[in-house]
Amino acid sequence: MVIERVELQLEGNSRQDVRSIIEEAAKTLGLVATQVTTLSTFPGSVHWHFKQGKGRGTLEATYWPDRRRAWLSVRSGREAEWIAPAIRALKRLVATGAKAGRYRLYSIRNSPIHGRGVFALRRIPKGTRVIEYLGERISQDEATRRYEETTQYPFTFLFEVDETTVIDAGVRGNSARYINHSCSPNCESLNEGGRIYIEALRAILPGEELTYDYRLETEEPMTRRLQATFGCNCGSRRCRGTLLNVA
Ligand SMILES: C[S@@+](CC[C@H](N)C(=O)[O-])C[C@H]1O[C@@H](n2cnc3c(N)ncnc32)[C@H](O)[C@@H]1O
Ligand SMILES: [Zn+2]
Repeated sequence: MVIERVELQLEGNSRQDVRSIIEEAAKTLGLVATQVTTLSTFPGSVHWHFKQGKGRGTLEATYWPDRRRAWLSVRSGREAEWIAPAIRALKRLVATGAKAGRYRLYSIRNSPIHGRGVFALRRIPKGTRVIEYLGERISQDEATRRYEETTQYPFTFLFEVDETTVIDAGVRGNSARYINHSCSPNCESLNEGGRIYIEALRAILPGEELTYDYRLETEEPMTRRLQATFGCNCGSRRCRGTLLNVA
């Protein structure tokens, strides 16, 4: 039986490392994480067991980046007097931390690769799910239509999910659309049930630009001219010269 279940407010800037906010708040309260796992019912979630000193009971916290939800609860049948006040204090600290915006992971600024780019503000550990690629979900036909409609259209705001679906980040998109391509990227795009996430391939240091390999597909026959149209300016030693997916 769960005696208390509290939703945490994760308002404010979405570019935040909520996991760090929760862990710092717990540390401030003298809570020690005895276990950190993922709940299979909430893919990608972070689930903690917190203890206070040698006291009985376990405070459980769950953060689900997918829906930007977090909640706290008391482990079934093992309630203890310290838990309810700890839940209230955690809730307050997390809300303050999220509002202060001290935990922003990245910011957008001018990039040496192209236009604007996304840059790490803090160290981002390997495997961190940095951001979901959001935007309007459209059909391949609609994507082709939008691409051909105007040459001004920033077509690579289009992210091909699979044979039938494309995400157009030009409509209701988020910061993910500013991530530039690199042939030696520090992130990768992952398709999880049709949703696209950008994850850190390695630890990324503050100031580094976030990149992933676009691997653009085209139905046109590959020519030097076509490759030049999609010329790459990533500057890496192993640059293949194009954003296209060529061997
Ligand atoms: C998703 S946007 C990235 C954000 C872009 N820098 C901006 O300011 O809007 C993709 C476009 O950025 C440019 N771009 C991204 N990576 C590049 C690279 N490695 N070399 C040259 N251009 C790049 C291309 O024009 C591409 O169509
Ligand atoms: Zn390159």
